[in-house]
Amino acid sequence: MSYQSPNLYGQHGSHTKVLSIASGKGGVGKTTITSNLALSLASQGHRVLILDGDLGMANVDIMFGVRSQHHIGDILQGRVSVEDAIQRIDKNIDLLSGGSGLYEMSKISTVEKAQLIEQISEIGTHYDYMLVDTAPGISDQVLFLNSAAQQICVVITPDPASIADSYALMKVLNQHYREQRFSIICNQVSDVAQGKRLFSKINDICSKFLYLSLDYLGSIPQDKVLRQTTQTQKLVVRSHPDAISTVSIREIANELSGYNQIDSCKGSLQFFWRQLLGVA
Ligand SMILES: Nc1ncnc2c1ncn2[C@@H]1O[C@H](COP(=O)(O)OP(=O)(O)OP(=O)(O)O)[C@@H](O)[C@H]1O
Ligand SMILES: [Mg+2]
Repeated sequence: MSYQSPNLYGQHGSHTKVLSIASGKGGVGKTTITSNLALSLASQGHRVLILDGDLGMANVDIMFGVRSQHHIGDILQGRVSVEDAIQRIDKNIDLLSGGSGLYEMSKISTVEKAQLIEQISEIGTHYDYMLVDTAPGISDQVLFLNSAAQQICVVITPDPASIADSYALMKVLNQHYREQRFSIICNQVSDVAQGKRLFSKINDICSKFLYLSLDYLGSIPQDKVLRQTTQTQKLVVRSHPDAISTVSIREIANELSGYNQIDSCKGSLQFFWRQLLGVA
């Protein structure tokens, strides 16, 4: 298999878990979860890189109260190195903004691709997790980004439109990209019991029509405190350590840290970038 190529693959970053945070419907809480999950993982001592892959509404930086300076397009145009495009946004948390460059990566020359992989390999060893915040929906770009991730976390809410759209997302990822495994986060539920019922519902539909079984990652209740803190550009995990949403997000971070590695070649940061560059 081509990924065994020593120059392009190597050992660096092979332990970085790459998770995408996806949804069929917009506004379900992906960016909120990505940012607060990053903070929870970082407070456990993990080093986290967030890739803001939402082309239209990139806003992870706003959640952290910073403004991102560069994006992948600047790397592709040779204005900055990968290292310089990555911005420290909190203790143990770095941010790389995708911008439109994320989707132009496969178009650069082979030499440029090799150089980029080289640079990425060097930074790869720095991180335990890379969390990829994505745009909602089933556009080719979103599907591609998710298919490159090692673990796809689909965020759903009790809204029937969210259930239908997340089913559509998993269906197309399954049928066009052969994705077999999805992790589900139930957000904005009234309580954990409702979250578990919601999971059972989507799991039943997916096993019946797609022959897929889903993993339950956890539930996050609808929380006024979270909504208010987001409005004031604060992260609930930091500002309200005892809020119900904080406790739930922390539990999801614990679940992720103990998550069994998926037995798959999709296991590294390099795989992710190589997919995007079209050299996997
Ligand atoms: N558990 C929750 N309780 C209360 N409010 C929530 C919860 N989760 C998310 N929200 C609120 O929902 C809104 C949308 O959240 P967010 O921007 O994270 O969604 P998104 O999925 O990233 O949206 P988009 O698809 O546009 O990128 C925000 O105002 C956020 O504060
Ligand atoms: Mg978002």
